[in-house]
Formats: sequence, C-alpha cells, structure tokens
Amino acid sequence: MHMKHVPVEIDPNVPSVARIYDYLLGGKDNFVSDRAAAEKLIELTPNAREGVRSNRRFLRRAVRFMTEAGIRQFLDIGAGLPTQENVHQVALGLAPESRVVYIDNDPIVLTHGRALLADNGQTIVLDGDLREPSAVLDDPQVNAHIDFDRPVGLLLLAVLHFVPDDDMAERIVTTLRDRLAPGSAVAISHLSFGDLPEDKVAEGRALYNRTSAGSATPRSREEITRFFDGFELVEPGLVSTDDWRPEADHPRLPQLPGVDGYVGVGLLRRR
Ligand SMILES: C[S@@+](CC[C@H](N)C(=O)[O-])C[C@H]1O[C@@H](n2cnc3c(N)ncnc32)[C@H](O)[C@@H]1O
Repeated sequence: MHMKHVPVEIDPNVPSVARIYDYLLGGKDNFVSDRAAAEKLIELTPNAREGVRSNRRFLRRAVRFMTEAGIRQFLDIGAGLPTQENVHQVALGLAPESRVVYIDNDPIVLTHGRALLADNGQTIVLDGDLREPSAVLDDPQVNAHIDFDRPVGLLLLAVLHFVPDDDMAERIVTTLRDRLAPGSAVAISHLSFGDLPEDKVAEGRALYNRTSAGSATPRSREEITRFFDGFELVEPGLVSTDDWRPEADHPRLPQLPGVDGYVGVGLLRRR
C-alpha cells in the first residue's frame, strides 16, 4: 500500500489493541502481554467482555441495515482480527455480490485476515492507517475493489477513540465522508466514560498508553455526535450500544459497572 505510516510492529511484549480485543472476545490470537492487559481492563471495567460482544452485535445490525439500504460495498477501517460474523460474512450472507475492504494498521490482522480470506475474491485485507484517510481513499487496491461513485458502507467501529486529537478525528471522518457517494452510510461505535470514577479512567488511560495504539480517548455523547456532521443520523440516533435497533433474538447481557459505548449510523441521502 502506498502509505507513509509506519506499521505497528509485532512485539509480543507490547500489548496490541487488536489482540486485547481478540482476548476479550474469547479468541486465541493473543500473547501473554495482551491477556495481562485485558485482565487488568476487566478489573477496571467489569463489563469489558460484555462491551466488546455488544459492539460486535452492533456491527452485525449496522451491516444488515446498510445492506437493506442497498449498499453492496463496505470499507471497514480498524477492522480487527477475524472473529465470528465478520463484516464480509454478514454482508455476503445477505447480498452475495457484496465487496468488502478491511483496513488495519496492525500486521497481525493482515496475516490472520489474509489466511481467512484466501479463497474469497470479494474481500481483501490491506495495511492502512485511519490517520491517513486520503492515502486509504487513493490506494489503488482500494479503488480496484470499491467504486466510490456508488454507495459505500463505511465502518469506523471501536477505532476513532485511538485518535486522541479531536480535530484530527473530525477531519478524518470529514475526509472520508467527502469521498462517499449519495446513498452511502457510516457506522460509528466509540468508547465513552460510562460510570467509571476518575481514578479508574486514569488507570485505563495509563494502560492504553502502554499498548500499540499509544492511547485511548473516551469521548462524550456530544463529541461523538459531531462525527456525524453532514450525515443524517438514522433512528434511534446516537445511543448506548445495545439500544441501537436491538433484535428480539439477542437479549441484552446484564449491565455491569464500567465504560459505555455510543453507536450510531449516518446516511448520505440520495439526491
Ligand atoms: C478495538 S478493535 C475493533 C475491531 C472492530 N472494528 C470491531 O469493532 O469489532 C480496534 C482495531 O483498530 C485498529 N487500529 C487502531 N488504530 C488504527 C489506525 N490508526 N489505523 C488503522 N487501524 C487502527 C487496531 O489494530 C484494532 O484492530
């Protein structure tokens, strides 16, 4: 990929946010350092496991919503390690002609993603950095796979909180939005403070400072709402993860104390 960014190194001693997330989801693609960081997170925020599962359920509902809106191309930035019900499985299950581009800056995601997708020509996994949105949008492989003149489902799930600077995070979403055709949609999920006391938030931040991402920045509902500027937020708006169009067959998990996530889907109206 033609990008200037330096990919995250695979250093088993430095916890990676992709592998911590994998551990929280019950996956096996993680090292001792990741498991230790994840266990510390669970200590700080007992709902960490429930939170990541509910984020994955939102992913499924958001992709289904986009598919039902006629979207057949998906750009998933900060895609994470393959798990169950990845974007391509949900999208292709509903609309077999769908095409998916996964982008992540953690090399372990590329290795595992490529192995999973070896026999699927409609889905590709590329190295790329959310902080370089123009490089992602201009990348020849991305453009060979996605036609930006047609609607795209953009997924920014549990990744914008790894961009600490508010202005930069807003510019990233605007740059991506400006390249999308009418009929496109964005799904965002974002870490928020929940009911964690200040000292636990500080411990959580310190923990993320030691990971491959370098930091994590929970944001308020108002701050996260700004990422939807220029999009029409579909009902029920920006809400707690389990409140976004819940499905009858997926009852909520018990709420434990800890951080919360806000999620929403925005549409670019067809003219
Ligand atoms: C918490 S996981 C979320 C995975 C998936 N999007 C989901 O919601 O289930 C965050 C992912 O974002 C990736 N990531 C973090 N910063 C990134 C950046 N600047 N560019 C691309 N990917 C990034 C991490 O490597 C990790 O795989």
